[in-house]
Amino acid sequence: MEGIRFIRKVTAGDSAAENESSAQLLAKQGVLEVILYRIKGESVVWLFPASDPNAIEYFFIHAGGVDLAMEDELVSLGAGDSFSVSGLKTDVPVKMHGDSEILYVTNCPAYESVADVDVSLKELLTRINEKDHYTSRHSKAVLQYSLAIYDAMQDRGPDISREDLAFAALFHDVGKCFVPVEILQKPDKLEQAELRYILRHPVDSGRMLLPKFGEQIAEIARNHHERLDGTGYPRGLKVEDISLSSQIVAVADAFDAMTSNRGYNVVKTLLEAAEELVSLPNQYDMRITSVLMQLVSSGGLEEGVITGV
Ligand SMILES: [Fe+2]
Ligand SMILES: [Fe+2]
Repeated sequence: MEGIRFIRKVTAGDSAAENESSAQLLAKQGVLEVILYRIKGESVVWLFPASDPNAIEYFFIHAGGVDLAMEDELVSLGAGDSFSVSGLKTDVPVKMHGDSEILYVTNCPAYESVADVDVSLKELLTRINEKDHYTSRHSKAVLQYSLAIYDAMQDRGPDISREDLAFAALFHDVGKCFVPVEILQKPDKLEQAELRYILRHPVDSGRMLLPKFGEQIAEIARNHHERLDGTGYPRGLKVEDISLSSQIVAVADAFDAMTSNRGYNVVKTLLEAAEELVSLPNQYDMRITSVLMQLVSSGGLEEGVITGV
């Protein structure tokens, strides 16, 4: 009969293995897509403001449940509940209660890009999470701080899309998957040989991101420990060879490292950390640190906003 399309169950082998998270395109009609996300275990995904103002996204929770951390309240939804997203202004973390199945309908085609990067992203995320909880939390914090700075800089900011900066910030430390966990978590001063592992993680991050995400994103990861005066690592680059985007991630990275408890450091308040970064104009770009200071002073980066999820 005309007007009806039947979609039969996808046969085994077409979808991801049972114990993995997966995205499966169920239907596509014009720009409209219906995707089934199966998410294994407790995890956090983020809703980002769409670049297309007409984008509408609809989520139906088929199994499991989610917590949506809105600005002023936490909304818990379970199987059978649904929510839609349109005109989102800020990023919203969505925490899965456990194994969940979510039906996602969008008029902003998403599956192509999801399918393309899905395997490698999952692999990278799993590697980070397995390696070190600090790195996993830290990556999300650097993402949030980087985007807050990017948004506040407006037309004074770097020539990069918000999505690309988000990718680079989230995966800047992915090269740490090659650093032995004993070294990552060692509270004492590192030996020379151990230090060599740490010093090469930006190189590995860049190398891992380059094939899928291109040079602009890889450069940010590769240079997030470089400093304007050449005192950074791994290459000791100077200001003219360091992009403004990588400086945003560098500032966000240092800011989170100074303000979070890593077990062996003196934890600074947000204000103390911002003041210290502003006081180092030879190392960190003043255009960025001054914006960070404004954000901190105005309460735009409340303590505790970055949770340990
Ligand atoms: Fe790093
Ligand atoms: Fe980092």
